[in-house]
Formats: sequence, structure tokens, C-alpha cells
Amino acid sequence: MAKDPGRVLIFDTTLRDGEQSPGASLNQEEKLAIAQQLARLGVDVIEAGFPFASQGDFAAVNRIADQVGGGEGPIICGLARASSKDIKACAEAIAPARNKRIHTFIATSDIHLEHKLKKSRDEVLEIVPEMVSYAKSFVDDVEFSCEDAGRSDPEFLYQVIETAISSGANTINIPDTVGYTTPSEFGELISNINKKVPNIDEAIISVHGHNDLGLAVANFLEAVKCGARQLECTVNGIGERAGNAALEELVMGLHVRRHYFNPFFGRESNSPTPLTAVRTEEITKTSRLVSNLTGMVVQPNKAIVGANAFAHESGIHQDGVLKNRLTYEIVDAQTVGLTDNRISLGKLSGRSAVRARLEELGYDLTRDDLNEAFARFKDLADRKRDITDRDLEAIVSEQVQQPEARFQLHLVQVSCGNSIKPTATVTLSDQNGPERSTAAVGTGPVDAVCRALNSLAGEPNELIEFSVKSVTEGIDAMGEVTIRLRRNNKLYSGHSADTDVVVAAAQAFVNALNRLVAKESSLAIHPQKDDLISDESISGI
Ligand code: KIV
Ligand code: ZN
Repeated sequence: MAKDPGRVLIFDTTLRDGEQSPGASLNQEEKLAIAQQLARLGVDVIEAGFPFASQGDFAAVNRIADQVGGGEGPIICGLARASSKDIKACAEAIAPARNKRIHTFIATSDIHLEHKLKKSRDEVLEIVPEMVSYAKSFVDDVEFSCEDAGRSDPEFLYQVIETAISSGANTINIPDTVGYTTPSEFGELISNINKKVPNIDEAIISVHGHNDLGLAVANFLEAVKCGARQLECTVNGIGERAGNAALEELVMGLHVRRHYFNPFFGRESNSPTPLTAVRTEEITKTSRLVSNLTGMVVQPNKAIVGANAFAHESGIHQDGVLKNRLTYEIVDAQTVGLTDNRISLGKLSGRSAVRARLEELGYDLTRDDLNEAFARFKDLADRKRDITDRDLEAIVSEQVQQPEARFQLHLVQVSCGNSIKPTATVTLSDQNGPERSTAAVGTGPVDAVCRALNSLAGEPNELIEFSVKSVTEGIDAMGEVTIRLRRNNKLYSGHSADTDVVVAAAQAFVNALNRLVAKESSLAIHPQKDDLISDESISGI
């Protein structure tokens, strides 16, 4: 039986696999803000990125290792293909962290071997020990993944796993890379690995899975029953294609149904000891931060973190819940940190009151950031009577999108109505040139704004999504705008909030443009889709 830490380890890959979601690229400040929040949430491991992808990715992992990887903080992990150059870059990037891990992987399914790696099974069996030992020469903690394990020949998989463990891997990760397996199949695979890999008791079994058939969380919960003790997941379930297993669903599944799961950990079914180390009250805040910064909007009916997850619309349900909450509710909203905080901040509130509330919300801002947040707060308080926690969160998340920006919006003015052509005037500054203004006419005010901004930026793109939702209730609520642009088949999101939705749209558009130019200039390598340079895997050491 695999090593058992006595509970489930939560390995968060929002910043690596989550960031591989189309349109979800994050800048360094945003990655750091998410990593800090993940540490507050209490995850065991943060997969901070794929350092070999680009200089920017390397720098982001390095900064997270330095600023979040200290003391009792989470393990900081970096991804590396089974290649010496990837592994070396990863080791250097995570070096500042106290607890660090290299996660290296190679595909094991025949379809990947034949069409992607163009390697035989024997070649893979040679690469694995060489690369795991190389990773081990830098760090004590090495994780090895068999990509596409869900579709691999089990007998070959057992051989690869045994080799990886005997070369020093402490964690063996079993990915269902294409989200193909069903819960009973996946559970059986984990049980068989436990039975058939002779040295499996020297490693922890981890699972990783995608949601192509909507089964990732169910597969993981079955895997836990069969001995998996690390779950690789993302906040809000973001990730490649249909996404990864959702952290909040796994954690709350294990929390709410702990009496059911406890015996699989050799505990009494009514044991009160938590099955994960996650602070569930931080879930809602983490979900909102990730959604705001990635521009990946959470569907209203999403389990645990969707806007309707705790809303009781129907009359019968409301009556039942008022009589006894348990009639229709299995999770108390407060357990996930969802509180109806209508705090008394407003026009007359001072800097220290705002700072205190931000600190209570977990935002530990530098002096400059606090000054900026306070200026934005004052500006909002002039237009909105009560400022809620959601408003403050929208203000702060907006700030972290700005620092590396090439374009800055300085002015947006629109005239529109039922008898004139919507016309927008905008002023934009560009790090690569002078500040310029222009005007444009559109089919509506947002179209006019986007046309004007495009003509100044000169970065061709196609607007493929525009959505607005209100941050809070009430006529003076801020509108949150998410915009997605497409260029060369890649998506870029931008997000912003303001009481004026046209201003929010203009800012969201500029944020998306900034991501587009930053990502395109970084020429980042995709860890799973881009080829390894052929001879680098063995001879490059
Ligand atoms: O889905 C997958 O197989 C992965 C691996 C790199 C772990 O993301
Ligand atoms: Zn994945």
C-alpha cells in the first residue's frame, strides 16, 4: 500500500494547469496574489508554473518561491518535462523556497508515445530513471507523472511507476489527462497500482484529472477510497479544455461527507479530524480572486462557489430553510466564507478603516498599494452609498492587473442615446510611444469604445465575448465586465469593475490588450503540446 499521510494532501495547480485555460493568462503580480491567497487557504502544495516556458514564467515561479515559500508555508512546486533543461530551470526557479518540489512527467499511453513523443516504451523506460535521478540531484522532493495514465496499458504503467520510485520519486501522480475514465475504472486503476507495483509503499499516490466528461471530481473521490492521498486540482475547476477537478468541490465533498470517507483512512466514521488542511472559510474569497484575475467567470449554478449555490429561490425551499436549514441545505454558507457583509464603509470612512477591513479580508497591501486602493475607494464612495466587501475585493483585484501593463487608459467619454450615433473618445498611453487620443463611432457605446481603443493600440484582434454582471445588488452597484479577445487562435481575457459599465468595459478591453501583447511577446512553451528538443532528454545533462 502506498505511503499514507493520514489525510488528503491538496496540490493546487491553478497557476500551472489552470493558467493553461484558453484566455486565462496571468501577470506576475496576479500570480503572486493568487499564490498568497492559496497559502492562506491552506493548500499543501502550490504548483506555481512551468519555469522553462519563458523568462516571465521562470520569474513568476521564482518570486512565488521567494515570497510564499518561506517558513511553514506550502511546498512550492514547478513543472518540468522529462528533459534536463526543463528540470534545471525548474530547480533554479524554486530554489528560494524552503519546501520545494520538482514535478517531472512523461507520457505513457501508446497514443502519446506514437504521435507525440515518437518514442518506444523501452526509450521511455530509459528516460524515466535518468530524469527522476537528475531532479533528485537538486531537491529531496520529486513528483513523477505518467501523462495520459488513464489510457495507458496498465502493465507498462506499473513498470514505469516502479522505475520512477526506485530512482527517487516520492510522489507518483496518475493523470487522467483527457478526462476519459469513469469513477469505477479510475478507482480500480489506483487499487491495482497499490497491489501490483512492488515498491509503491515508498511513495504517495496522487491523482490529476480533467473534466471532459464532467467526472473529474467523482473520479478523485473514488481514487481516495482506493488509496490516493494527494489530489491535484484548481480553484473553480479552471484548466485545459473542460478544466481540472475543482478544489472547492473536492474539499467540501470530503468535509461534508467525512463520516462516509473516514473509514477509508482507518478512522472511526465519526472522527472529527479534518480530512484536508484547507481552511474552508477562505474558499469563497479564493474563488472570486481567481475568477476576477483570470477572467474565467464562474457559472451561477456551479457547486460551492456559484452565485446560486446558496440561493433559495423557490417558495417551498425558502419556507423549508426558514423552518430548518437542513431541509434543503447540506453546506452552511459561512463554512465557505460566504457572509452577507454589508459593512459600514462609506464616503466618510478614513484610510485606517479601509486598511483594517482589507486586512480582515486577507489583503496585506504595501503602503503604495494601500494608497491607490484608498483613492479608488474614495472615488467609488462618491458614487455609491454603501461599500461592501465585494466592492473592496473588486477594487483590489483590479489593481493587481495593472503593473506590467503596456497600455494605460486615461480617458473615456461616450455620447449615445436613441437619436444619435454612439461615439466614443478615448485617450491611451503606450509604453512604446506617445499618449494619443481618438474618437470612433460604433453600433453601441461599448462597440464605439472598443473601436477607438483598437485604432490607437494597433494590435488587431477579434472581440469574441463581452459580459457584464453586477458585483452587488442595488441600482448603484458596480458592474463587472469580462472581455475576451482572440488573435491567432489564442484567447485573452480582461476584467474590470466600475459603477459605470462603459468605463468598466473600456478598462477590461485595455486589460485584455495588455495580456495579449505580454503573452505574445513571451513566446511561452506549452508543457504538454510543445515538443522536447530530440536529443536533449538524455544527453543534455
Ligand atoms: O493533464 C496532465 O496530464 C498534466 C500533467 C502534466 C500532470 O497536466
Ligand atoms: Zn492536466
